[in-house]
Amino acid sequence: MSLIGNWMQAIRTKTVAFITIILAVAVTAISCSSGSDANVQQAAGISPELVADYVHTVMAADRTAYTKHVVNRAKKLEGKDKEDGVLEIEATEGWQQTDGIPLPAQMFRLGAEISNESGYFTYNLISPWYINDAHAPKSDFEKTAMDAVIETGEPYKEYQEVAGQQYFSALYPDKAVAEACVTCHNTHPVHLERYPDKVFKMDDVMGGVIINIPLTET
Ligand code: HEC
Repeated sequence: MSLIGNWMQAIRTKTVAFITIILAVAVTAISCSSGSDANVQQAAGISPELVADYVHTVMAADRTAYTKHVVNRAKKLEGKDKEDGVLEIEATEGWQQTDGIPLPAQMFRLGAEISNESGYFTYNLISPWYINDAHAPKSDFEKTAMDAVIETGEPYKEYQEVAGQQYFSALYPDKAVAEACVTCHNTHPVHLERYPDKVFKMDDVMGGVIINIPLTET
């Protein structure tokens, strides 16, 4: 082959290689951008189960933080002195009458009452051994879900229809994670009167947090 011929051949090879690189870059760019579209779609269509898990995580964290960093620092809990208390306050069910601060379950209910007014979704603490009547399992769905959670100790998640509206509902177990849960409930006058035979032990399911998320037609 002539010198010119060799030179032309080299240019052709380089051009083909160059075009190949351009195509590869273009294909990568297209597939990446369609990939991010898919991510956006996924974010828009987030599953109700994940939403329930998210909001439950926040609720549980707030309740634990209030218990650990506020109630535990009070010098008194329902009339009894606490060793680790540093503040001259009492956490008590009768907080409104005695200038005390609410118990964690009451704080949780106060938040739920405000949040439920928003109309986005509802949540509530429920238990078959309720001290406060507002916590009684009401619908058949709540009773079935509560039985399942007591039986398994695991969350119960299911779709349900109420008055023509579809909901995704999840009930998360509320367990006796501290000795105080057990002693306070077992000795509470309302508990003793209503459920004299029910004696909570550590790690028992004492109730659950129900979250109801309304679903829109798609
Ligand atoms: C000092 C007493 C006290 C302690 C400690 C306590 N509770 Fe309660 N709990 C109550 C009272 C009082 C209510 C009712 C609150 C209301 O009026 O909303 C309640 C409500 C509840 C409910 C809703 C059903 C019901 O009885 O109305 C559950 C479930 C519950 N508590 C679980 C727990 C768990 C789990 C713990 C420990 C992490 C705990 N409680 C610690 C006093 C206590």
